[in-house]
Amino acid sequence: MFPVSRRELLRSGVAVSASTLVPGAVRRAHALLARYPGVASPEALAVAPRERLLFDFGWKFFQGHASDPAHDLGFGMDQGDFAKSGDFTFAQEKFDDSKWRPLNLPHDWAVELPFVHDPQVQEHGYKPIGRRYPETSVGWYRRAFDIPKEDFGRRIWVEFDGAFRSALVFVNGYFLGRNDNGYAPFRFDMTDFLNYGAKNFLVVRMDASFGDGWFYEGAGIYRHVWLTKTDPLHLGYCDSHVRTLLKSNAAVLGLTTTVQNEGHEAESCRVRWVIFDAKGTVVTTADAAAQSIAPDRPSAFEATATIEKPALWSPETPNVYSAVVTIESGGKVRDAERITFGIRDIRWDADHGFFLNGKPVKIKGTCNHQDHAGVGAALPDRLQWYRLAILKEMGSNAVRTSHNMPTPEWVEACDRMGMLMMCETRMMSSNTEALAQIEAMIKRYRNSPSIILWSVGNEEETMQNAEPGPRVVARMVERAHELDPTRLCTAAVNGGFQTHFPDGLDVMGFNYHLDQPDAWHKAHPKTPSVGTETASTVSTRGIYTTDKLRNWVSSYDTNYPPWASTAETWWKFYATREWLSGGFAWTGFDYRGEPTPYGWPSINSQFGIVDMCGFPKDGFYYYKAWWDSQAVLHLFPHWNWDERIGEPISVWVHSNLDAVELFLNGKSQGSQKVEPFTHLEWKVKYEPGVLEARGIKAGKVVLTSKRETTGQAASIKLTADRIDINADGEDLAVLRVEAFDAQGRAVPTADNMIGFKVSGEGTLIGVGNGDPNCQESDKEPRRSLFNGLAQAIVQATRTPGTITVEAIPEDWPPPKLPSATLTIPTKKVESRPAVE
Ligand code: GAL
Repeated sequence: MFPVSRRELLRSGVAVSASTLVPGAVRRAHALLARYPGVASPEALAVAPRERLLFDFGWKFFQGHASDPAHDLGFGMDQGDFAKSGDFTFAQEKFDDSKWRPLNLPHDWAVELPFVHDPQVQEHGYKPIGRRYPETSVGWYRRAFDIPKEDFGRRIWVEFDGAFRSALVFVNGYFLGRNDNGYAPFRFDMTDFLNYGAKNFLVVRMDASFGDGWFYEGAGIYRHVWLTKTDPLHLGYCDSHVRTLLKSNAAVLGLTTTVQNEGHEAESCRVRWVIFDAKGTVVTTADAAAQSIAPDRPSAFEATATIEKPALWSPETPNVYSAVVTIESGGKVRDAERITFGIRDIRWDADHGFFLNGKPVKIKGTCNHQDHAGVGAALPDRLQWYRLAILKEMGSNAVRTSHNMPTPEWVEACDRMGMLMMCETRMMSSNTEALAQIEAMIKRYRNSPSIILWSVGNEEETMQNAEPGPRVVARMVERAHELDPTRLCTAAVNGGFQTHFPDGLDVMGFNYHLDQPDAWHKAHPKTPSVGTETASTVSTRGIYTTDKLRNWVSSYDTNYPPWASTAETWWKFYATREWLSGGFAWTGFDYRGEPTPYGWPSINSQFGIVDMCGFPKDGFYYYKAWWDSQAVLHLFPHWNWDERIGEPISVWVHSNLDAVELFLNGKSQGSQKVEPFTHLEWKVKYEPGVLEARGIKAGKVVLTSKRETTGQAASIKLTADRIDINADGEDLAVLRVEAFDAQGRAVPTADNMIGFKVSGEGTLIGVGNGDPNCQESDKEPRRSLFNGLAQAIVQATRTPGTITVEAIPEDWPPPKLPSATLTIPTKKVESRPAVE
C-alpha cells in the first residue's frame, strides 16, 4: 500500500469562505451537475470564469479516402501539404462544405457501413475499415463557430475525449496538431489562430486505417469534443488532485494542483479549495500560501483539509464530494474548476483479498468494450448509465475497462451509481506513446472513487516471454505510482505466470488458466491477486440447442472455447478461495467483432452475459443468484417445443434458495436441493402447457416461476426505460419491442420484422435485437425481433415537446399485426453550455 504522504496531509490549511467565488457560479454548476454529472476529473463542468462548452452539435461530415487524394479533398496530392503550416483550404471560410452531411457528435461511421465477408476484418466486426478499405477508412469533420471579440486574451482550447483514430486537426487553415491513438484524450491550444469577433473553421481528419485493438473499435469522433476558455493564469490541465486518508472518524484531504501563467508578467496568486458534499453544502475549505508565478513556470500549490464524519463511498453508498479549486489574483477569481471525489479506504491483501472501508469485498466483475446496439462505439452518455444499471441489477459490483482508457461518462456512471472499476490503458509499453497514454489516464481519473486498480496492460504475450517484459512492467508501474501513490497496479496476464514478467505487479492478474493460480499463490504468498479476465462462456440469447449451421450456441451454461470455462466453474473457483479478490468475467455485454465461437455470418461475439442490447441471457441469472442478495428463481428454457413432443428436454433453474420443485402441467417432476454456486437440472418429457418451478426457503415456497407454451405473436408492445426525458439534444429513451400472443404472453420465438416511424421532437439513432448473426442495418428504421425482442434508441432534439414512436409490423404476407405507439414527453431543461 502507498499511503498519502503524512507530511503533505498534515500541513494545515487556512479556512476561506465560499463567498469569494464568482457569485452564482457554484450554485449553477451544482444544478447542472445534477443532470450532467461531469466527471471526477478536472475536466468536469467548468466553474466561471472558465468556460467549457460542449462542441458536439452542428458538424458536417465527409467520407474521404485513405489512398486517393482525388477523393480526399486533394489532401496529400503533391506531398506539399505540410510545407506551410497555414495553407489548408478545407479549414478556411471559402471552402464549400454544403454537400457534406450534417450530424452531431458523438459519431461512429463504421457502424453505418455494410458488413463485408472478409476474414481479415473479422475481429473488427466485418466492417470495411483498414488499409485494404481506403474508401471507407477516412472521415472529415468540419464545424464553423464564432469566437466573440471579448475572448481576445483568453486561452482557448479544443479538447477531444478520444477519437478513432489518427486525428489531424486544423483551424482557420492552420495545422493544429495530430493524435494517433484512439482512446486517450487530446487537446490543442487554438488561441493564436482564432478570428476574434468573427467566424472560425475547425476541421478534423480521422483515419481509421490502423486499429489499436483486435475488437470492434468504431471510427470517427465517437466521444465528446469541448471548447474550453480560460484566463492566461489558469490551473494546470488535469493537475488538481484530491487524495483522501481516513483517520478514525475523519477524512484528511491532501489537495494539490498547479498554476500556469501564460501571460507576460509575473502574477501573485493564491489557490483556494472549497469542498462540497453531494447536496452542495460547503463542508470545509482550504487555502494554499500565495506565490508569485513567473510566466511559463508552472507552480505547484498544496493544502490540506479535514472532513469530520465523512459519508464514505461504496457501491452501496456512492457518496461523492466535490472540490471547487480557484485561483485568485488581484482580488479576482482568475480560473476555477470543479472535481468530484469520494472518500473510501481500499486495501489489497495477499491472504484475504480486497478490502473496502475495512471490510472484505469480493470482486464480482465484468469486462466490457465500449459498444452498443445501434450506435457502435459512439455511446451517448445516457447509455453508459443504462448499461451500468443492467450490470448492477445482476449483482455485479465491478467493471474492467478492457482494453483501453474509458470514456469519462463510463467512469462518472461508476462513481455516481456505485461500481468498482479496474481502469486499463491500451498500450502496454514503456515507449513514449504508452507512457503518455497511462499518464493521461491516471491524471484524468485519479480522483474517481470507483477506481480501485490501474491495469498497465492486457496479454502482451510476446513481451511476457522476452527480456524487455519485466523492465516494461517495472517502468509503467513506477510511473503509475508517481502519478497516483494511492492505488496499486495490475496487468491482465495470460499464461507465462511463471516468468519474471509479473514480478513487478502490485496485484497479480490472472486471465483464465484455472489450473495455475493455486501454485502461483503458493510460490508468491505475499502478492495479492485478482481474476483480471475469466469465463469467456458463450451463449445466444433465447437459444437452447447449439446449431453450428445457424451459428447458435445454447444458453445452458455449457459452452466455452478451449481457453475458457463455464460461469459455474470460474465463479466457484474464485468464490471459494479467500485469497483471490474475485474476478472479471469476459464479458458483461456482447460486442461487435471477435465473433466467437463462429465466424461469418456472426458479426459479434457471444461472450456477453447480456446481448448487444442489454437483454439478459439465462447466464445473467446464474450470476444474479450468486452475486446479488435478492432471492433468485430463474427457469429455462421456454416451453414452445411443438416439434419435440415426447422428447426429453433439459430444464435448468438458477436459484439461490434452499430447494426447488419442478412441475409440468401440475405434475411434480421432483424436488432438488440447491448446492452453492451450481444450477439445478431436470430432464422433462416435453408436452405443451405450463412448466413451473417453486422455490423453497426455510421449508416454505417463497418464489414461483413459470414457462408457458404460447400461441403465435398477435400483438407487439413498445416500452421505454424512461418516459420523461430532457430536451437537450443528448438525452434518450431505450425502447423495448416485444411480441405477445392473443392471451398476452410474451412469445419467446417471435421474429417479426418491425418498422419504426419516429415523429415529433426526437430521432431514431439506432436499432438492434441482440442476434449475433443479424446483418440488418443498425441505422435503418426497421429491425426484426430476435427471440421475441428488439431495441430502438430514440434521442430528444433540443426543442421540448413529445416524441411519438410507432412500431409497425412489416410481416409479409399479411395479415400484419397491429402497430404499437408510444409517446415520450421531452421536457425543457437548462442544457449544459454548448457551442451554438
Ligand atoms: C482474451 C482477450 C480478450 C478476448 C478474450 C476472448 O484473451 O484478453 O480481449 O479476446 O480473450 O475470449
